[in-house]
Amino acid sequence: MTEEIQDPDLTADEKQLLEELMAEDGSGLSEFGLQRRHFLSQLIGAGGALLAFQLLGDQSAFAHSIGAELEAYPPEHIVNGVTVSFKVNGQSKSLEVDSRMTLLDTLRERLQLTGSKKGCDHGQCGACTVMVDGRRVLSCLTLAASCEGKAVQTIEGFAKAGKLHPLQAAFIKHDGFQCGFCTPGQICSGIALINEVKKGEASYVTADIRTMGQLPQLSDDEIKERMSGNICRCGAYPNIVAAIREVLSGKGVAQHWLLTPEHSVQVVNNIEGNPKES
Ligand code: FES
Ligand code: FES
Repeated sequence: MTEEIQDPDLTADEKQLLEELMAEDGSGLSEFGLQRRHFLSQLIGAGGALLAFQLLGDQSAFAHSIGAELEAYPPEHIVNGVTVSFKVNGQSKSLEVDSRMTLLDTLRERLQLTGSKKGCDHGQCGACTVMVDGRRVLSCLTLAASCEGKAVQTIEGFAKAGKLHPLQAAFIKHDGFQCGFCTPGQICSGIALINEVKKGEASYVTADIRTMGQLPQLSDDEIKERMSGNICRCGAYPNIVAAIREVLSGKGVAQHWLLTPEHSVQVVNNIEGNPKES
């Protein structure tokens, strides 16, 4: 039985959630994917969701009334102002921006869509990746004024009706992130990659471009090459590749939990994350 938590600073709801988190023996959490996912789902319920949902862009949790926020964050010191009208995650927006303002700063500073991250601001890390008219772009190198009449999609726009995009769900299943800073850009890039492959677009390492039209599968080398513009300082690369491979193939990909040699576990799940019958 779990001891009652006495901390007077906790609300009743927080106490209850913490008790639920403590109710399960956590010794196997890092060794077995199912327990870990259960832990993660509880953590999300307990407020870790604030981080996870921002990283993964759950629109229901962070639904923005962008128009209202434009009022709340009026521009200051605009020089050479230009009015730009475009769609952001399906919503039509029209706002005045400095002609030198990047799309990244416009999204973050003016529209309060802070999922896209500023890693380097020099086009080198991919953390700011968004999609413009269905193509991935580095928003730190894209002027907002150049997006006139275009459709911009950010990480906040991929979850629909409270349901994560399959690649977002696969990132959770495969532990495709640690600190999560690169994750919005990785997911935007991964979704664009999947669309590019479905359209038959080749990469520098495609061995035979004649196969692209009929090739829904990609080798890990292909995925790595196509994701090479997105840097992850935490080194979650193998799990990012696994998540993309799973969504691309539509088949479950084994999860690898590599800890100490005696605790290394491989769990083969179906694509929904349930244990595969053997
Ligand atoms: Fe745009 Fe690094 S912030 S590439
Ligand atoms: Fe930390 Fe990629 S998860 S930088």
